[in-house]
Amino acid sequence: MITLDVARCLAPAVHDHGLDPDLLADDGPGGVAAAELTKRLEASRGTGMERWRLLAEDPMRAQHLAGVREVRDRYAGTLRNLVVLGIGGSALGNIALQAALNPPTHNLLPDPQRRSPRLFVLDNADPVLFQGTVDLVAADDPGFERTLFVVISKSGETAETAAQFLIVRDLLQKARGDAHSDRLVAITDPDRGTMRRICDAAGYATLPVPEGVGGRFSVLSPVGLLSAALCGIDVETLLEGAAAMEHACRSERLSENPAALLATTLVELGARCGKGVHVMMPYANQLDPMADWWRQLWAESLGKIVPGVQGTVFAGYTPVKALGATDQHSQVQLYREGPNDKAVIFLEVERFASEAPIPVGLGEDALAYLEGASLAQLLAAEKRATEYALTESRRPNLTIRLPEINEHTIGEFIMLWQVTTAYAGLMLGVDAYDQPAVELGKQATFALMGKPGFEQLRERVEGVPAPSA
Ligand code: PA5
Repeated sequence: MITLDVARCLAPAVHDHGLDPDLLADDGPGGVAAAELTKRLEASRGTGMERWRLLAEDPMRAQHLAGVREVRDRYAGTLRNLVVLGIGGSALGNIALQAALNPPTHNLLPDPQRRSPRLFVLDNADPVLFQGTVDLVAADDPGFERTLFVVISKSGETAETAAQFLIVRDLLQKARGDAHSDRLVAITDPDRGTMRRICDAAGYATLPVPEGVGGRFSVLSPVGLLSAALCGIDVETLLEGAAAMEHACRSERLSENPAALLATTLVELGARCGKGVHVMMPYANQLDPMADWWRQLWAESLGKIVPGVQGTVFAGYTPVKALGATDQHSQVQLYREGPNDKAVIFLEVERFASEAPIPVGLGEDALAYLEGASLAQLLAAEKRATEYALTESRRPNLTIRLPEINEHTIGEFIMLWQVTTAYAGLMLGVDAYDQPAVELGKQATFALMGKPGFEQLRERVEGVPAPSA
């Protein structure tokens, strides 16, 4: 199991920038408050927008795995390219799983070595990225015989994804005529929405974004599982890891419940010590996109207006991503001597898939200390060194330690943060499952793109006075 070490967030380590250890004792104020929230989360577990908590257990697990395996087996051994169209919660999990659980060189490997399709996740309306990817795929597969497009959109109305889908559908129709539908799989709402209607009319295969599972909590549903399974990732073990963590996060003892401990530590550091910026710093390139996935979860779930009798509170934390050791040469100066408003969340990996030993024999005294060691050892030393340096500067930091990066620990990690977000939402008094502030920008885009019904908004956006009646 992955473990959590919050010792450097406590006053004995970082003085008045840390928490009183008694606060985090099982019978201390934080422990008692967390136990109450655990009871509340147990009561709402699996209901409403908290159905994501059931994704790793039957019957949802079995249903989703059956659907995912069916698609995987249908295309087994036939695909060179898998192109995912989606954005936000409909893309970040796909990218994070692929980066963590397949080699960083996956797309560059020759076909016989790769043994699963190249994966391209188009999570932006960027025309150059889109066109370049389509051209690359079509260069040696002009009829899209060995390419599958997976469009992921719960609503089907997300402009970026919808626009890409329209282009891809047109390309496929031109290349394959009526047979094009076997090159498209949609992951969308099982009952409602624009994409549902399109798929039903055109006969595209679909998998569900389940009811009560929001985009940023959907990576353990077919949203994340399908591309992972098609790319050879063991999705069964991923869900086993998630289930193990979900179980651990039901304990009413703070010391045994990693999500409650993580949320209590970060929320209390914010409230008592003014740490409103959370930096996730993995010491592993494989986990770098996982920090992007976390950034959305943490920002979109917790960044909310809370009206109160004593005035409006603007809740939430600013999630920042840094990569160890790379960003030691870019960000750590700021983290040690800039504003002391941050809590750094290190991700540490105990055993890497490769050690990369450093050879001996150059005979240069200045570099002798590196000879006979390995890059894995160097990276581990760099993490400990940065943790030490931050602590010396009284900058609170914690470590999430993964014994190794594999499907089980990644499933644990994802569930850990999802449950932590649920706790933090309750602690801050926000609804962790909506995103009302995203709407206005979406509607303004509709208006600027000429969607009927948004004419008045267009005038407001463009600053043109409305004609008088
Ligand atoms: O977390 C969320 O809900 C969002 O990031 C959505 O996933 C994102 O906006 C895409 O929405 P949809 O899946 O409806 O296209």
